[in-house]
Amino acid sequence: MLVTGGAGYIGSHTVRALREAGRAVVVLDSLEFGRPDAVIDAPLVVGNIADQELVTATCREYGVTQLMHFAAYKSVGESMENPTRYWRNNVARSIELIDACIDAGVSEMVLSSSCSVYGTPAQVPVTERAPIDPESVYAETKATLERLMTWYGVTKGLRSVSLRYFNAAGASFDGRLGEEWTFSLNLIPLAMKAVLLGDRRLQVFGDDYDTPDGTCIRDYIHVEDLAGAHHKSLEYLADGGGSAQVNVGTGTGSSVFEVIRATERVAGQAVPYDVVDRRLGDPVATYAAPEHAEQTLGWSARYGLDEIVRSAYEWHRSQVATS
Ligand SMILES: NC(=O)c1ccc[n+]([C@@H]2O[C@H](COP(=O)([O-])OP(=O)(O)OC[C@H]3O[C@@H](n4cnc5c(N)ncnc54)[C@H](O)[C@@H]3O)[C@@H](O)[C@H]2O)c1
Repeated sequence: MLVTGGAGYIGSHTVRALREAGRAVVVLDSLEFGRPDAVIDAPLVVGNIADQELVTATCREYGVTQLMHFAAYKSVGESMENPTRYWRNNVARSIELIDACIDAGVSEMVLSSSCSVYGTPAQVPVTERAPIDPESVYAETKATLERLMTWYGVTKGLRSVSLRYFNAAGASFDGRLGEEWTFSLNLIPLAMKAVLLGDRRLQVFGDDYDTPDGTCIRDYIHVEDLAGAHHKSLEYLADGGGSAQVNVGTGTGSSVFEVIRATERVAGQAVPYDVVDRRLGDPVATYAAPEHAEQTLGWSARYGLDEIVRSAYEWHRSQVATS
């Protein structure tokens, strides 16, 4: 199986889980954001997904019949400032990749999609029947890829599972893998920075929302649970399952203040924070209806916020200690 972006955060955890399950895997990653040492136990081909010669040669050499496609840019804010960069990398290069893979014999694919395809949901929990209403170029690239998956199915017989991740977070429980926090704008890495580096304060964007504690609510999903959802998707496709779009979340929403309190429990110290203005376009609350994932893939999340925060804390602490 070819895993693009397998040296990145979610990809590396998934590659490891697949290898532990005895799957043959080859990783293709440009290393623009990934780390070669995150690919623990699989061959790593360094290159771009749009390099069709390289993709074809890799598929031939490793007898690839399945594609797991993580490689993408993922910053919502950057996608609004530089949309072309996102259309090119997330959409145009994906087309080059998928065409080359199909020509080389790939017939099953798992795509990293995102709950951002729903935009601001009118109802929570969010089911897969909610309207697709992207509110950023990044989200539109994911929605576009999902549409492309449908047409690749119709025209080329490619069967695919598009996994709509909610907020990926946490690190491997043995501390070997975790999220690179240098570029991350996600709440949990930022909370970890605030508590571990001691030189900055976390910004909380609004505490006057219509939620129990006034802060925004998100569905944090442990990265090892995400890896499990990918494994189940492969089994589903291998059993002949048809193309599907599936939410990957816990079904439970956690507020910003709940994340801060969980961090304080693990760290044994206060998280320094300031409440600042709301951010434009932040949905008040979004969390997944997880039933479709259970019914279709036989998958549900095992971990909750405490495991996420504890594993993230241990990982970031070890990174600070060795830097
Ligand atoms: N992290 C999240 O919370 C989240 C949520 C929803 C969806 N996603 C999606 O999941 C996927 C993985 O996210 P992540 O958090 O692991 O990101 P990441 O940046 O850690 O990993 C992406 C990897 O893809 C590689 N890459 C990017 N463009 C490439 C190209 N053109 N050719 C080859 N390699 C390329 C990067 O070097 C990196 O290693 C992405 O598609 C992202 O949009 C992530």
